[in-house]
Amino acid sequence: MSKLWGGRFTKQTNRLVEEYTASIGFDKALAEEDVQGSLAHVTMLGKCGILPEEDVEKIKDGLHTVLNKIARGELEYSVSDEDIHMNIEKQLIEEVGPVGGKLHTGRSRNDQVATDMHLYLRKRVVEFTGLLHDLQEALIGQAKANQETIVPGYTHLQRAQPILFAHHLMAYVSMFQRDIERLQDSYKRINVLPLGAGALAGTTFPIDRHFVAEQLHFDAVYENSLDAVSDRDFIIEFLADASILMMHLSRLSEELVLWSSTEFRFIELDDAFCTGSSIMPQKKNPDVPELVRGKTGRVYGNLMGLLTVLKSLPLAYNKDMQEDKEGMFDTVETLRGALQLFGPMIATMKVNAGVMREAVNKDFSNATDIADFLANKGLPFRQAHEVIGKTVLYCIENGKFLLDLTLEEFKKFSPLFDESIYLVLQPETVVNARNVYGGTASGQVAAAIARAEDKLQFT
Ligand code: ARG
Repeated sequence: MSKLWGGRFTKQTNRLVEEYTASIGFDKALAEEDVQGSLAHVTMLGKCGILPEEDVEKIKDGLHTVLNKIARGELEYSVSDEDIHMNIEKQLIEEVGPVGGKLHTGRSRNDQVATDMHLYLRKRVVEFTGLLHDLQEALIGQAKANQETIVPGYTHLQRAQPILFAHHLMAYVSMFQRDIERLQDSYKRINVLPLGAGALAGTTFPIDRHFVAEQLHFDAVYENSLDAVSDRDFIIEFLADASILMMHLSRLSEELVLWSSTEFRFIELDDAFCTGSSIMPQKKNPDVPELVRGKTGRVYGNLMGLLTVLKSLPLAYNKDMQEDKEGMFDTVETLRGALQLFGPMIATMKVNAGVMREAVNKDFSNATDIADFLANKGLPFRQAHEVIGKTVLYCIENGKFLLDLTLEEFKKFSPLFDESIYLVLQPETVVNARNVYGGTASGQVAAAIARAEDKLQFT
């Protein structure tokens, strides 16, 4: 069969041009959405009296046959039919005969492709919200198991103040909560229907856009037909949300890589999530977090790529916009791959609480608390800071930690010290002293876990 748009042409398309301009190689991922949109469109054509009901029924039957073929992977795609929209339309016409050619009444591929993309991303928001919930659940599970595990907290990757490991994990639960909320917010702009905009200006047929929107469960229709076919903001927004999410995953990845190093030994990832070395028999490499960290680059790249495609593009549709797809599909696959692995990887990781505790025992992360102790006794905090700085220096020079000092040694630095300092310096005391909303004290962390669990249940 010849091209669906062949009438105006007197020559065959150059083979290389066909290949260069075709998108079927990747937009076949939109097959189901395309049929879904067509079913709603043709139902509306019948309801509005634009097509007789018997034609509508034939077309619908044909579309269902095509849909079944897609589900069974039996639909054969052809590059000479350029994209998923014309491949499906061709198939339909083969199934039901010339009446299939009535489907495209009052519609353009420009509003059709935009509709497919909206339908596609709408599903992804639901999918990724679910995967993020699974990851949050895994993090909360580990947090609950580590409500007494004390670990050094870092700034500048230098030991800063001891914290509960649960508190550290719950920071990521908060980060992923923002990712969920960002995705759900973008749903408002994704769930708007472009169909009915035609090629750019609307259509001469008396269509009912709101009826189509209702059938496809869109909350609204685009206000302006030019905007409807030119807008790719919703994809850019998804790619931006995905970039922030990958940034979060890459920060967690980096920590997992560090923590599983011999230098830290804070955690051990399960064997099922690691790989070995072909030469060094002792190696157990954290490939998954490393790759997630690495793949963050391509997700950022896809965002930059599409922003750049859209930059300065005149209204309305331009073929440039076909470039919106590969990056989006790539981001979807990259995110899906990372999220599917992350939940189970976190759930199965072994936490070396003893090693973490040992680290806290051998550092100065309780120094702030003796400065606070002196400040509470009336010494101006700046002076207290200076005194403790000197005390720490003395410890370093003498191979001691603060808890190793005798009261006489303490008193050399300030007469304000007394026996109670030994309790103040205990990691448990230090942790529990931070009893502010959102702080690391065990009661606060328990409350944070309870709040997060509540949110998980009700979203
Ligand atoms: N394959 C095209 C795309 O993805 C579909 C829209 C084509 N419209 C057109 N007028 N050539 O953008």
